[in-house]
Amino acid sequence: MALADYLESKPVIDTPRLRIRPLCADDVPALRAWTPDKSIYAYWGKPPGKSDKNPELLFEKPPKPSKSFHLGIEERASGRAIGELWVYRIERDRMAYVSVRLARECHGRGYGTEALSAVTKFCFENTELQRLWTEVDVRNVPSQKILEKCGYTREGLIRQGKMVNTWCDYYIYGILSTDV
Ligand SMILES: CC(C)(COP(=O)(O)OP(=O)(O)OC[C@H]1O[C@@H](n2cnc3c(N)ncnc32)[C@H](O)[C@@H]1OP(=O)(O)O)[C@@H](O)C(=O)NCCC(=O)NCCS
Repeated sequence: MALADYLESKPVIDTPRLRIRPLCADDVPALRAWTPDKSIYAYWGKPPGKSDKNPELLFEKPPKPSKSFHLGIEERASGRAIGELWVYRIERDRMAYVSVRLARECHGRGYGTEALSAVTKFCFENTELQRLWTEVDVRNVPSQKILEKCGYTREGLIRQGKMVNTWCDYYIYGILSTDV
């Protein structure tokens, strides 16, 4: 199956402490508590946008057809949406880009590793994807750590390149289905 085959019915992925699932309007209060927090955008490549500052905008209109996966990360114990994860820039069902972020108060508990590792495994076990990859600002040590704990390889350094909307030194990290 291609990852695109899950676009109509997005996956729900359970881990010991998290549920990775589509977000819904009921998640707005939980999202509003952390998505406007500028500190999580330090190495994100762009500042908080309109829907980060006002997450209700995400649900005001019916979703447009999209080739991207945007999933929420729910902390199962509290039921709160404490993070988001994207699998996007999907090329020929074979390669996709990943990105993850969490509420500041939830950093350092291993949630980032738990979520990324589960989604990486899901993609390789259930879709035709052969490569997942991302770009990480060299100063973003927590992100590098979670990628390495999930089995991604640091493949290269781009010096003063364009990462999203900023210019910085950044690493490319990638993982192949044959790596796991
Ligand atoms: C990246 C992010 C998702 C990591 O999530 P997390 O749940 O805090 O990650 P984990 O707890 O699984 O692991 C973080 C690791 O970084 C380490 N770490 C955290 N801050 C650090 C620092 N300043 N210097 C060195 N190591 C640091 C932690 O000790 C841990 O490593 P360990 O398991 O070896 O102890 C989270 O920091 C985040 O949301 N950042 C903002 C958004 C972002 O930049 N996303 C990545 C875009 S590419």
